[in-house]
Amino acid sequence: MNKSSTILVTGGAGYIGSHTVVLLIEAGYNVLIFDNFSNASKESIKRVEKIVGKSIPVVEGDIRNREDLKKVFENHTIDSVIHFAGLKAVGESVEKPLKYYDNNVTGTVTLCEVMSEYGCKSIVFSSSATVYGDPHTTPIKEDFPLSATNPYGRSKLFIEEILRDLYISDNTWKVILLRYFNPVGAHGSGTIGEDPNGIPNNLMPYITQTAVGKLSCLGVFGDDYDTHDGTGVRDYIHVVDLANGHLKAIEKIDGINEVLTVNLGTGKGYSVLDMVKAFEKASGKEVPYCIAPRRAGDIAKCYADPSYAKEVLSWEATKGIDEMCQDSWRWQEANPKGYAQ
Ligand code: NAD
Ligand code: UFG
Repeated sequence: MNKSSTILVTGGAGYIGSHTVVLLIEAGYNVLIFDNFSNASKESIKRVEKIVGKSIPVVEGDIRNREDLKKVFENHTIDSVIHFAGLKAVGESVEKPLKYYDNNVTGTVTLCEVMSEYGCKSIVFSSSATVYGDPHTTPIKEDFPLSATNPYGRSKLFIEEILRDLYISDNTWKVILLRYFNPVGAHGSGTIGEDPNGIPNNLMPYITQTAVGKLSCLGVFGDDYDTHDGTGVRDYIHVVDLANGHLKAIEKIDGINEVLTVNLGTGKGYSVLDMVKAFEKASGKEVPYCIAPRRAGDIAKCYADPSYAKEVLSWEATKGIDEMCQDSWRWQEANPKGYAQ
């Protein structure tokens, strides 16, 4: 894509989407955000506009609603779509599987149908390391076997398969599947960041909300895993590095001749206690914790082999664990209630 292309960013008001929009605009792309605000606030877009110093066109709509999407393609020439829109809470997906299949899978099928109708056949999709299930070894390479243990993960697997089938049926489609490891951190300005609804499911927002006094104590889910200190090991990646991976994908997408499937991780695994210690050092705040039982469905270790991303996207993560913790804290400290004023 050349830098004057127009990119439709579904889910662009969300955590990873908002950071990606900043980088796209700074790089010179025209951006259009499409979001139903089911898990995001309009304030995030105002903050992004402040960072980039210009207003950003936003369409409030649902990817399951064909008419909402048609209006976008009717009124704009879209060159490529970065497709973040989706629901992502693993626990909720177990309780409400149909909600997840409808939103994530049906929504993506509808999006692709409308794209096809308007001749836009270029998509970068937010997949997840969850598609590797419980990997037989680490680091994880892109050709490892795929599986899922919950409806959220299965929705990602199904969408990957659907996009691969779409390419087989019509190889003029350009498809990049980005498998994210564990995004953390926030924009260096401290004005945009992760703002989960209710009590966070994920480790980093739980840590930051404990440090800011919203939560009293972090439960560490198990200390008897086969890892260096018994707690779960993950590949935490700074959200700005992750966002940058999307820029690289957009730069390369016109030249690909296959469905490109790429891990976006750092290649380094940190345990829950490593993260607590790094966060305490970065913030100067104590994070009280206690050891709790293992969480159902969790695995011991998950971290990427990121070498393929370097080879095909010329991308690698540059921000380490200290910067991840400092930036998460800067955002949380300045915005103890997230985007709520
Ligand atoms: P997020 O919830 O902050 O962002 C998703 C956005 O999509 C939200 O703004 C939400 O309002 C919007 N959305 C949801 N359903 C929609 C629909 N039907 N129509 C229009 N908009 C809709 O989540 P995020 O962390 O930014 O994740 C972005 C994508 O990356 C998701 O697809 C997620 O599954 C995937 N992912 C996230 C992680 C993670 O840990 N954050 C890891 C791997 C993959
Ligand atoms: N953890 C705790 N206490 C908490 C929360 C998490 O000890 O309160 C531990 C977990 O047991 C795990 C680690 O912290 O060992 C990371 O847990 P997260 O919930 O932050 O992340 P997961 O690796 O479980 O899953 C995340 C996303 C998934 C995505 C996956 C891979 O939630 O959607 O990364 O990208 F699929």
